[in-house]
Amino acid sequence: MKLEPILAAAVAGESLDDATLAYLLGLETPGELEALFRAAYTVKLRYVGNQVHLRGLVEISNICRKNCYYCGIRRGNTNVARFAMNREEILEAARLTARFRYGSIVLQAGERNDPGWVDFIEEIVREIKAIDGGKLGITLSLGEQTLETYRRWFAAGAHRYLLRIESSDPEFYATLHPADHRHDERVAALGFLREAGYQVGTGVMIGLPGQTVEHLVRDLRFFQKLDVDMIGMGPYIVHHDTPLGRRFPETGSDAKRQLEAGLKMIAVTRLLLRNVNIASTTALQALAPDGRERGLLAGANVIMPNVGDLAYRKGYLLYENKPGVDENADSARIALERAVGSIGESIAYEVWGDSPHFAARAGNR
Ligand code: 5AD
Ligand code: SF4
Repeated sequence: MKLEPILAAAVAGESLDDATLAYLLGLETPGELEALFRAAYTVKLRYVGNQVHLRGLVEISNICRKNCYYCGIRRGNTNVARFAMNREEILEAARLTARFRYGSIVLQAGERNDPGWVDFIEEIVREIKAIDGGKLGITLSLGEQTLETYRRWFAAGAHRYLLRIESSDPEFYATLHPADHRHDERVAALGFLREAGYQVGTGVMIGLPGQTVEHLVRDLRFFQKLDVDMIGMGPYIVHHDTPLGRRFPETGSDAKRQLEAGLKMIAVTRLLLRNVNIASTTALQALAPDGRERGLLAGANVIMPNVGDLAYRKGYLLYENKPGVDENADSARIALERAVGSIGESIAYEVWGDSPHFAARAGNR
């Protein structure tokens, strides 16, 4: 295949077949990667512009009922001190998000579905909604729940939800999770979210042991079929206190390759999905100090700076060398503004930053 005409067709919006997607994900030389990222950036500018949308990220608890083989805060990892922020701590982070004019907040935690937790989230969403007359957009990332729970949290004021599918391939998913973590239930949960009225985000990890380009192509088709509004995905990074980390300790030791794989996936997603929001995730930054900026240049348009209290950051290590554990929210804000400015982009303050895709989807109903 010849790269330039393929990229020109992709930028023009011609449909991309599986072989072409696989070819793009397999590019390797610096010149080819540069051309791919440039094409994705062109599409990004056309559909979502060069303003970065921020979501203040608060990791409210590392207590999790699940045992995903790759994750540092899995239930089975007894080396982790468990925490749950209290109401006042979460509200403080929300007020900080508002004061920073980030426009939007994300509450993320390990998965829990006990009634006390479901009530607590409902209440806290309501209280965040009351700050400054409901100015903050609220995104939740709290795992699989029932339709009823999703409805209650939506009614309380949350309007976006992130639930990564991790891998769209059921067989591959089964190699990454215990048998009771069912792929079909996760897919069903994504359907519930849509049914409950949320803008829905999903995503996968990239560079997992055993993952092939065909898996990633299938992931891209999954995003497309689900008609998602947001994508959050990033490179897999080893955590040695996990079954996957112990079994494949060397996976991802080539940081440059892992980073490039993540950037390629962002770029191809942008070429395919056009007007969705795509996050430049912390995992990119874990692999290179300028990883998030490079994500923006490869087609991402959302960054989720951590606004939670520093005291808890070390308790939320999904993977090793997670950046930002020593950086308070204020200095992170200043560094981020500088980083975004350094690539000629700017930050859109005080807006929810919904994806144009959502507006288009809502308008078509
Ligand atoms: N490397 C990269 N990402 C990870 N996640 C969990 N463990 C890891 C890891 N070792 C991601 C999962 C999850 C999100 C919150 O963090 O995709 O959905
Ligand atoms: Fe829990 Fe999420 Fe980690 Fe799985 S990836 S163990 S659900 S926090």
